[in-house]
Amino acid sequence: MPLSALEAMRFSSRIPSSLQTSPLVEQLRQMQLIDLTCSNPTRCGLTYPVQSLADALSSPDPLSYSPSALGKLEARAAIARCAREETTADQVVLCASTSEAYAWVFKLFCEANELVAYPAPSYPLISVIGELEATVPVSYRLAFDGQWEIDLASLEARVEQGARVIVMVQPNNPTGSCVSVEQGIQLADLCARYDAIAISDEVFAPYARQPMPALGRCFAGKAPLICLDGLSKGLGLPGAKLSWMIVRGADLACRQSIIERLEWVADAFLSVSALIQNATPRLMEIAPVVQRRINSRVLENQATLKEALGRVPSVDLLPSMGGWSAVLRLPRTRNDDELVLWLAREAHVFVHSGYFYDFAGEGYVVISLLGDPAELAASAERLVDLFLREYG
Ligand SMILES: Cc1ncc(COP(=O)(O)O)c(C=O)c1O
Repeated sequence: MPLSALEAMRFSSRIPSSLQTSPLVEQLRQMQLIDLTCSNPTRCGLTYPVQSLADALSSPDPLSYSPSALGKLEARAAIARCAREETTADQVVLCASTSEAYAWVFKLFCEANELVAYPAPSYPLISVIGELEATVPVSYRLAFDGQWEIDLASLEARVEQGARVIVMVQPNNPTGSCVSVEQGIQLADLCARYDAIAISDEVFAPYARQPMPALGRCFAGKAPLICLDGLSKGLGLPGAKLSWMIVRGADLACRQSIIERLEWVADAFLSVSALIQNATPRLMEIAPVVQRRINSRVLENQATLKEALGRVPSVDLLPSMGGWSAVLRLPRTRNDDELVLWLAREAHVFVHSGYFYDFAGEGYVVISLLGDPAELAASAERLVDLFLREYG
């Protein structure tokens, strides 16, 4: 029998062969659960300075558009002024999302099938974007030994295998770990030795609970470092669709050649709305207000969890230096799917299992710290009761 048009349709091998959600997710969807995974701060009952945001976004001249591939200079200058390390506007390149920033950096440096190294556990979309860009994403490990640290041997093995780009996320999602200055220097030396490029995804930097190292200084004169950041976390507005890259490290000539080529890539897309670029200087002034509110919500929820879980010796709330998540380590008595289902059935909560973030081994659970504090406190009590019954 001839194939139907649908059956004969061919997609690239970079697209997954099945887009169906897993039976587990379907099962969880049908249960009435408290969602402890919310990562969209606009949906978590936080108070935003809505009038200031609306004023900033109301454009006096919505028709004006003179495209600039790197982004409007006033917007880039405002971002440079707010950067953690000394930065000038000409180091800043705008794009529509941090995901897009990853894609552009991969396009810029990687041939098809070249390796990019990303941390595990970490944000699951990095490997998806790497695959869509026709690279081969390979993970290197973050190891937990009282605190999370890059397992340098596993990273070096990836670089020896040919990884062209090394991704760091700091504070990492969901472990909240940051690279130390010593590791920053070691990473810069590694990149210099193997002609690799580093990405530092710093979208959670405003939510770091300790000073973060100035990686630009570690990489200066050694290797290129491209730092990613954006309004989705920095202003708590994932719908704003503005992110940026700051080109650091190496020397001035290398940085300039990177920026010229990023400009060439950006010119093919011109993806950043002129309206958001016009609003950026004002939005960057409002950002600290939102950051303070999110930070106080996250700290309150973290303290609640810590207090509640302190009563269960067999469950660890792992230490975190920042970000919006809490990682719990439970005794390994169930596999990850069974664990999530058990927590749903017995404590009526929906949590992410460690599998989602590529943790090594079973027994990790990730909880968002953005949610309503009363709801989180009630969920924490149910979890503690369950853990005490189950693990003692
Ligand atoms: C570490 C990390 N980087 C990037 C992103 C995506 O950011 P954007 O919304 O700007 O694409 C996320 C989203 O959760 C994230 O956790």
